[in-house]
Amino acid sequence: MRVSRVVRAVQQRWGVIFDIDGVLIQGYKPIPGAAEALRALDDARVPYAFMTNGGGVLEAQKAADLAARLGRSEPFGANRMLLSHTPFRALADRFQDRRVLVVGASRTAEVAASYGFDFASGLAVTTPQIASGTPEICPFPPLATSALPGVNVNAPDAPAIEAVLIFYEPNDWGTELQVITDAVAGGRPMGSGDKQVAEVWASNADFLWRAGYPVSRLGNGAFLESLKAVWRRRSGHDLQIQECGKPHKVQFDAAEAMLAEVAGVSTSSFSRIYMIGDNPAADIRGANAAQGPWRSILVRTGVYQGPSHFTGDAAEAPWRLEPDVHEAVRRLLAESH
Ligand code: G3P
Ligand code: MG
Repeated sequence: MRVSRVVRAVQQRWGVIFDIDGVLIQGYKPIPGAAEALRALDDARVPYAFMTNGGGVLEAQKAADLAARLGRSEPFGANRMLLSHTPFRALADRFQDRRVLVVGASRTAEVAASYGFDFASGLAVTTPQIASGTPEICPFPPLATSALPGVNVNAPDAPAIEAVLIFYEPNDWGTELQVITDAVAGGRPMGSGDKQVAEVWASNADFLWRAGYPVSRLGNGAFLESLKAVWRRRSGHDLQIQECGKPHKVQFDAAEAMLAEVAGVSTSSFSRIYMIGDNPAADIRGANAAQGPWRSILVRTGVYQGPSHFTGDAAEAPWRLEPDVHEAVRRLLAESH
């Protein structure tokens, strides 16, 4: 009898992966009930972790910021935080001896360096470095600056840029569009080629995301759309981009592995992993496509502002639609007894 109860508990092991923006946080403020929802899972010893398409900072920093915003006394461990660009860690080896252009907001170079990209030798470079070190490449003064030294991509011994890695949405879209398209086209001077010669990798294809403003904001996906349109107009060809971040499977596999590590079990032990998200195109589509133990729960505190009966694309139809994260967790806990 006792053995069968244990077997049943193992078979019914479940956990939760939380999206952050629009589920736990809106802008800089916590969403009402979010802190209580996490505490209820702590009390019930249900494992949970975070998967956001946000980034631009180190995993540990994001985990600490989230805990502080939710009023927790201790930071969450970095091992509970999957950012959109976390899978780029694996690219550091692939591009070990090759020059890459790292794109993102101000702290992105620090993140990329922590993944193993080599800024010290100049193999990894940022757009502000190129803008300040390559004469006349940007006709207008760039908005973003960098403490890293300028890099002249047209110097006689300068290696070609072989990949553009878009870690996070940049602040200065105009300068980035110019320098990225130059890098993609290659040639000497850089930008004089007419075919795509550099690989492009992007994390976070969110066209919209929920920040503090009452209307969803343009995200990195909107920047990617702009880049594709500019490249198509410039070259006559579609830009080839390899993507990670939600809704891609690579992210959901990594989240499952992260949750297993948090729970101290093997990846295949979960009978249910609930993805609680606000964005049908990222969180719900991704969890539905991942199948297996994944079940998607859509909340109405973020990007999705539609009716309480979902009427959108079938691939983005949630397994369950809830008013907010607190209610979503309350119901899961009630059902698990
Ligand atoms: O840039 C942040 C964003 O696109 C979405 O964040 O937490 O809703 O996946 P999140
Ligand atoms: Mg979200």
